[in-house]
Amino acid sequence: MKTYQIVVLSGDGIGPEIVDGAIEVLETLQKHIGRFRLEYNFCEAGAACYQSTGEPISAKTLKAIELADATFKGPTGLPGVRKPDGTEAGLLGGVLRNGFDLYANLRPIRLFPNTASPLRGKIADSIDYLFLRENTEGLYLSRGSGVVSNSAVADILMVTREGCERISRFAFNLAIKKKRGAPEDGQKRVTLIEKSNVLRSFVFFREIFLDVARQTPEVEVESLYADAASAALITRPQHFQVVVTENMFGDILSDLAGATVGGLGMCPSANIGDRLAYFEPIHGSAPDIAGKGIANPVSQIRAAAMMLDYLSETEAAEMIEKAVWKAFENKHVELSDTGAIIGKMTTAIQAIQDELRKL
Ligand code: IPM
Ligand code: MN
Repeated sequence: MKTYQIVVLSGDGIGPEIVDGAIEVLETLQKHIGRFRLEYNFCEAGAACYQSTGEPISAKTLKAIELADATFKGPTGLPGVRKPDGTEAGLLGGVLRNGFDLYANLRPIRLFPNTASPLRGKIADSIDYLFLRENTEGLYLSRGSGVVSNSAVADILMVTREGCERISRFAFNLAIKKKRGAPEDGQKRVTLIEKSNVLRSFVFFREIFLDVARQTPEVEVESLYADAASAALITRPQHFQVVVTENMFGDILSDLAGATVGGLGMCPSANIGDRLAYFEPIHGSAPDIAGKGIANPVSQIRAAAMMLDYLSETEAAEMIEKAVWKAFENKHVELSDTGAIIGKMTTAIQAIQDELRKL
């Protein structure tokens, strides 16, 4: 039987409970289909790890990640745990994304049944696009290296030719691979979100993007200014199939996109490079509700599905996605208007497991 080595970083706040829940779902799935096995290596990382060791992650854990088939990560960081420079200590974005050159941050935005979108009249699957955030450069490349004086501070936005090229290529490959076109018209379409009316960096990004686009004439190409794009993601989400953008725009706008499909608790993500990848929810560690058993575990469960897809266990990945869909369709899992889960997290996890066993 095929066996995969998985490093698990349970993280802070609600991390451990939603990671445990997602692993229960993975276990049920493996028993049900019996074709592969996941072996877990649980490691410490995040704000609690920083508090007890002075480092958010150890060199030994980084080595384990390098050798594993994939890493499954819960949210990390706690607002009160900060480095001497004032930024949060438990975040692993710089260490993992830049450290392992995981340049593609893929965040599927899909509206599930009965998951009240705050947008009027939206039915399930009328919002269904892939949000792709460049993960290693852009404004966040200045992380930890901004120029600081007493009277002024500068964080620089840098993009490179290679960085723009590879993320554009990744976007067009996604558009080809995703079976469904944009919900509005079935068209395969890649939209770049940029600000080339103001900044040279985005003129550069856009030119490279349009160059890459020439290789896939069957995919429609579009370039939108970030301000107009923010409006379009709200007024016309059905128009999009694949959206690609710079790191900070992507951080901000993917949360906005997540809000249109019932909240961040619904949204998983993959951080992918040419050799390694890790999978996590798009949200933070929500310490205010930690330990109460009321967090929405769906983001973490769908991150597990993305991990299986990356491991080429495509059918297994689709089964998780389908079981989550069914659980919402049958109203065995329900969300309040704020995106919080109604009832207990354990009930939701059981409902998803029950749906899995029926597939
Ligand atoms: C995300 C998160 C991270 C980011 C934080 C926690 C550093 O918000 O994955 O979107 O800013 O990239
Ligand atoms: Mn974010």
